[in-house]
Amino acid sequence: MEKRRIGVLTGGGDCAGLNPAIKWVVKTALDDRLRKTRKIEYEVLGIRDGWKGLIYPEGDDDFLGPRILTLTEEMVRTWDRYGGTNLGTSRTNPFDPKNDRSQIVLENLERYRIDYLVAIGGEDTLGVANKLYRQGVKVVGIPKTIDKDLSGTDYTLGFETALNVITEEIDRLRTTAGSHKRIFVVETMGRHAGWLALEGGESSGAYIILIPEYDFEMERVYELVLEGRRKGTRYDIIVVAEGAKPKGGSEILKEEGVDSFGHKILGGIGEYLAKEIMKSTGIETRSITLSHLQRGGAPCAYDRRMGRYFGIAAVDLIVNEDFGKMVSYRNGRITSVGLEEAVGKLNLVDVETQYDTERYNGRRTILKY
Ligand code: F6P
Repeated sequence: MEKRRIGVLTGGGDCAGLNPAIKWVVKTALDDRLRKTRKIEYEVLGIRDGWKGLIYPEGDDDFLGPRILTLTEEMVRTWDRYGGTNLGTSRTNPFDPKNDRSQIVLENLERYRIDYLVAIGGEDTLGVANKLYRQGVKVVGIPKTIDKDLSGTDYTLGFETALNVITEEIDRLRTTAGSHKRIFVVETMGRHAGWLALEGGESSGAYIILIPEYDFEMERVYELVLEGRRKGTRYDIIVVAEGAKPKGGSEILKEEGVDSFGHKILGGIGEYLAKEIMKSTGIETRSITLSHLQRGGAPCAYDRRMGRYFGIAAVDLIVNEDFGKMVSYRNGRITSVGLEEAVGKLNLVDVETQYDTERYNGRRTILKY
């Protein structure tokens, strides 16, 4: 029987849903019954620490190694219950213009006789996968990111679990907010996309939601807060995306500099907003940054299921020799799109149809009338 090797890696920020996807890549590739019909015997190699695993497969100062290991069905049996990624991850860019190591990746793919690659990641990891595909690598992608900012798919692994975290944390904040009649400003992640803030705010019933796709007026925020108090609200929850900014202002950065993919490190708008609101309205205001809590914890049922479907579909693409594709969820169906389309542009909130620019909140009419 023909023998083939599949390498699987997770790159970029970790999130819930990665382990379920790895598990189902392994189980689908190694499945006994399917092997007989495909007449191909696959072996699956787990590649640790994202693209770093294909640059330093034997290990380095950061990890002694080896970074490439054979995965068996028995090993991954329970993985879908766990958050993060058991393969580890890193934000390594083999095509970093300051330090291009893409040739080393190609050489190591040869050396380890990896015929096919499954890259599980967001715009950065899948951007690298797309460049490798253009250089002849037989690669397929699985979308993951709590930011939900990849194009060509309605879902990215990790998003729903992150929404659950936001909702649970806000539920918890409400008791203190209510008891003390305070305003709480909750800062979510999401980079330049407002999905986490918008859908997290909608799920938790936030009073105000501020997203990067619509620059807000500080005055309008104060007005809304005071209007609420006049109507008798005891407290308010304001959700703000880390990439949101006031009109005429700029994004607030947690740190100077950029990572190896050129991303700024955002953070701090929640704290800024809380101070300004307190100064202008006199109402006691606190801020909280949910930060990496949003990426943590066990995958929710939806991420376990989607990880499963995406993992299975990724192997289907390999069996069908349909490379350069990302598995995707579109209009209620699991399907696939070109990696090029997926990473070509960010999927952002459509303000016109999804956001209420007067209330600074989710839309309040859904069906046309
Ligand atoms: O892309 C996922 C994400 O969690 C963003 O929402 C956030 O801005 C960034 O990663 C944080 O990255 P790091 O884990 O490197 O601090």
